[in-house]
Amino acid sequence: MKTELLSIDTNSMDEKIQQLEQKISEAKQGGGEKRIDAQHKKGKLSARERIHFLLDEGSFEEIGMLVTHRSHDFGLEKEKYPGDGVVTGYGTIHGRLVYVFSQDFTVFGGSLSETHAEKICKVMDLAMKNGAPVIGLNDSGGARIQEGVVSLGGYADIFYRNVQSSGVVPQLSAIMGPCAGGAVYSPAMTDFILMVEQTSYMFVTGPNVVKTVTHEEVTSEELGGAMTHATKSGVTHFACANEIECINTLKQLLSYIPQNCEEDAPAVPYESNGSELRIELNTIIPENANQPYDIRDVINGTIDADSFCEVHKNFAENIVVGFARLAGKSLGIVANQPAVLAGVLDINSSTKAARFVRFCDSFNIPLLVFEDVPGFLPGTDQEWNAIITNGAKLLYAFSEATVPRITVITRKAYGGAYDVMNSKHIGADMNYAWPCAEIAVMGAKGAAEIIFKGEIAAAADKNAKWKEKETEYMTAFANPYRAAERGFIDEVIKPEQTREKLIKAFKMLENKVVNLPKKKHGNIPL
Ligand code: HXC
Repeated sequence: MKTELLSIDTNSMDEKIQQLEQKISEAKQGGGEKRIDAQHKKGKLSARERIHFLLDEGSFEEIGMLVTHRSHDFGLEKEKYPGDGVVTGYGTIHGRLVYVFSQDFTVFGGSLSETHAEKICKVMDLAMKNGAPVIGLNDSGGARIQEGVVSLGGYADIFYRNVQSSGVVPQLSAIMGPCAGGAVYSPAMTDFILMVEQTSYMFVTGPNVVKTVTHEEVTSEELGGAMTHATKSGVTHFACANEIECINTLKQLLSYIPQNCEEDAPAVPYESNGSELRIELNTIIPENANQPYDIRDVINGTIDADSFCEVHKNFAENIVVGFARLAGKSLGIVANQPAVLAGVLDINSSTKAARFVRFCDSFNIPLLVFEDVPGFLPGTDQEWNAIITNGAKLLYAFSEATVPRITVITRKAYGGAYDVMNSKHIGADMNYAWPCAEIAVMGAKGAAEIIFKGEIAAAADKNAKWKEKETEYMTAFANPYRAAERGFIDEVIKPEQTREKLIKAFKMLENKVVNLPKKKHGNIPL
């Protein structure tokens, strides 16, 4: 509803209150009933409804409800909506303070004006001063086109704050509508992105521009829908079936995360039932070392029941990352997945895991690694797209992490991947291996071919010689004991002991302090 001059006689308090109530009522209408209905017809909630479902009942306190834009171009001065297309404020989720902004698509398509940006910046500044997460519910056509450069400046003000806040307070972005231009770059600099299937899109330029420039015909869904970004680009960490699922995932995610970088994540009460042994872990690894198994069985068999919250589930599935609880305490888990591409490390899995490791380290969440990795993926595609630089990201991320870090080698730990996957050498605190672990420079077959090349070539039966040398190498290295003799593995444990050992070790590491060398910041290979 457009704001009109009020003709109420403002002499008495009653009349003043009436005037206030009218302004509040106008603001709550956003872009008007018709546009809210259109939003509902698309399967989308309104900006205020989203806040209602996100925050604890009655906890929302709005800031800047009566802000309007200051633009006089293209007749905008005649079209003003109190709130200017974004609802901002603070409230609680499960009793914990959060700051929130929720863009209102019914007002100029949720586009970002100078004042809309100022409102978002205001809550971001409060979040920084008070050490609490910022949640953005994004539904915006990008920079408000009629405003020109002041709108671009508004975006840059937000981007700057995204970066200043990074690693200080958690920043979560839910994408709940078509987000274009600047509306995607701010979420991209936050910690986690959640999208809603079929109703949310993220692209720098939409299908029409794509058609004009590259002559490609592509739908919004194909170009920047939730599943596209969950599987192909990895831009989103979660693809949710609908808005309610998206909001519930936001709340679940927050439950593993502290309020800011100075605090620990909240723990949930935990009482042991007496034994932490998990016999079922003994039977997960197949007898044949080349057979796959699902690393999630190891994860779920080790952590507190039903506590795994998988992040980036549909992207680079050869590595699994997510949050879990062990004896009630929050953990970040990074695990090679032998069920997909044999758990090999490649470009996407390295960047996926590196980003997750850095998040956990920023926010004091201890790291647990389950390792079963045959090495890095060979090939021109990987080399030409810089597996060297991208693999180095994971190596860098683990090496700089100062949170408690524990690795369990469940089976293979080969080549450079052994070093990268939180080895003792790069600062892991405790390294365990199961008795079936194989820790070596490379697989026995390839190793035999290289180091016994002459002997194999000279043999009458080359295949038999090769096999003999393969067995020789395997006997020497396809076990955890060489590494244990060196102290690179602290203990070889039965799988059933894993949970018990981890609970004790993480407790032992609770007061870990690491002093890093003085520097401005490192230079991660981007
Ligand atoms: C002003 C906008 C707007 C915008 C949408 N609207 N985007 N108003 N500025 N950026 C208005 C429309 O005029 C319309 O107003 C209402 O919002 C709904 O828009 P529709 O187009 O009817 O909705 P829909 O068909 O769902 O399409 C949504 C959309 C599309 C995909 C977002 O509107 C769109 O492509 N908008 C432009 C996207 C864009 O190019 N943005 C600028 C990016 S540049 P009425 O009055 O009819 O309800 C940028 C620079 C920052 O952001 C770069 C930083 C790095």
